[in-house]
Amino acid sequence: MIISASTDYRKAAQRRIPPFLFHYADGGSYTEHTLRRNVEDLAGIALRQRVLKDMSSLSLETTLFGETLAMPIALAPVGLAGMYARRGEVQAARAAASKGIPFTLSTVSVCSIDEVASAIDRPIWFQLYVLKDRGFMKHALEKAKAAGVRTLVFTVDMPVPGARYRDAHSGMSGKSGPIRRMAQAAMHPFWAWDVGINGRPHDLGNVSDYRGSPTGLEDYIAWLGNNFDPAISWKDLEWIREFWDGPMIIKGILDPEDARDAVRFGADGIVVSNHGGRQLDGVLSTVRALPAIADAVKGDLAILADSGIRSGLDVVRMIALGADTVLLGRAFIYALATAGESGVSHLLELFEKEMRVAMTLTGAHSIADLGLDSLVPDAILGTY
Ligand code: GLV
Repeated sequence: MIISASTDYRKAAQRRIPPFLFHYADGGSYTEHTLRRNVEDLAGIALRQRVLKDMSSLSLETTLFGETLAMPIALAPVGLAGMYARRGEVQAARAAASKGIPFTLSTVSVCSIDEVASAIDRPIWFQLYVLKDRGFMKHALEKAKAAGVRTLVFTVDMPVPGARYRDAHSGMSGKSGPIRRMAQAAMHPFWAWDVGINGRPHDLGNVSDYRGSPTGLEDYIAWLGNNFDPAISWKDLEWIREFWDGPMIIKGILDPEDARDAVRFGADGIVVSNHGGRQLDGVLSTVRALPAIADAVKGDLAILADSGIRSGLDVVRMIALGADTVLLGRAFIYALATAGESGVSHLLELFEKEMRVAMTLTGAHSIADLGLDSLVPDAILGTY
């Protein structure tokens, strides 16, 4: 039975899907220290309880780049989300739209931009990496524009991919990967039938579209390894800035100096993020990085944050520390893997309820009311 957004969907997903997929989503890089700290540091931030403040009216609504969000949450870009449920990106986008929040499509999604954008009325957000193949980037941006995307999320913390040791153990990568994945699928017949067989094609929709030929899971791994560009700098983003006239969010900022550079560059927003602990293990948890970044750039651009958010209480903590909106990655993937669109809708309902309780008991009538006052003064940062 699913009662808690933070733990029950994770357990249910682990039962339902093959281990290589579970661990790909669940895991981080190297010793997974940062992955754990993202969650633990958030949980350790003490909310400041207030009472008797007539909390009968409460609004979770917020606005970002002129777009109304029913609550300050967007679904994060997650590669291969379409392997977690049948046409998974479409199902997750439908759930997000029905709850009044944005869905961000990953570059390396199973479903293409067109397939997802045409499935819902709300414009999707699109995430892009800086890749060696600039032709692909241009093609993807053109596709996104034509599909009505306004908000672009640019991931910049992957000039090289971090090593995910769990992927090697689970069969997601490595020489024996294909046979191990087949064996695991056979042990998970519901997934094998629902997604493995009926969820085809398992392309990287956007990449196949560009190449004009199908690309599968093997290509995904090779592509992740080969196509990231260690030479990237702010200069590389300039042509995109010129090409893209909608809001542009830079994802993967963890330092106030980089946040200031993002302002100088003319970004409309940043995502304070360590990529869910999937890139450089040992860096600050997002929630520890956030206050100094908010000090440096709050008001100059929109501040989004991700990594470690597993409940509505965590959303409230991030907003109190300076985020305008948060992105959910793993939290929604576990729900998607468990119950598709209805799982993601239910998860978002749980987050909403948790936020309402946290706001009521911290005396915040609106998202704008959440701030450092909503936290116990010395509850934030000990030494790392
Ligand atoms: C891709 O961005 C990943 O984290 O696997």
